[in-house]
Amino acid sequence: MRGDSAEYAPLRILDLGTGSGCILGALLSELPQAQGIGLDRSEAALAVARDNLSLLGLQDRASFLCAHWMSAIAGGAFDVIVCNPPYIAPSEIRELAPEVRAYDPYLALDGGEDGLNAYRTIIPQAFAALRGGGLLVFEVGYRQAGDVLNLMKLFAPAPGFSEARILRDLGGVGRAVAAVRQS
Ligand SMILES: C[S@@+](CC[C@H](N)C(=O)[O-])C[C@H]1O[C@@H](n2cnc3c(N)ncnc32)[C@H](O)[C@@H]1O
Repeated sequence: MRGDSAEYAPLRILDLGTGSGCILGALLSELPQAQGIGLDRSEAALAVARDNLSLLGLQDRASFLCAHWMSAIAGGAFDVIVCNPPYIAPSEIRELAPEVRAYDPYLALDGGEDGLNAYRTIIPQAFAALRGGGLLVFEVGYRQAGDVLNLMKLFAPAPGFSEARILRDLGGVGRAVAAVRQS
């Protein structure tokens, strides 16, 4: 892993929709030479993420950006882009457990008509901001893995992604999709 050796430049990580900063915090904890940006449209979420990364002692390797997805990112050459976007269709938000429906901000849940809007927006943007060989990883809803895998093929410009795969949780449910940007 490039981030483990002092002879390499630090891994550059972008966490889209960072929310509480939990994914960025976990990655920076595991990869002591990596640095990362937590991006969110919500200033309130970013304030929580800043506090959490400071509590973890990771503030020197983390920075934060308030933006609509990648509208404020010019260029990039990120090594890793991770994203757990809003992916719930409005018809399903009503059926969520009360502790999610009543407390998670709507902005964190609403994925548009079929739940997949954020993926359609982010895939071409993330492709452009990854270096060749860079990794894109999405969390997906429990029935969305196949659809998101297809969107990775449809929405990435040439040369596209390779090694696209579904990652399963301990119950065998596809809950993440990962792919590598081809050079
Ligand atoms: C499902 S939450 C994920 C939070 C955190 N990363 C996690 O895994 O627990 C989605 C996050 O995306 C953010 N978000 C929603 N729309 C966005 C947009 N257009 N641009 C940037 N962030 C957005 C929300 O504010 C929320 O923090």
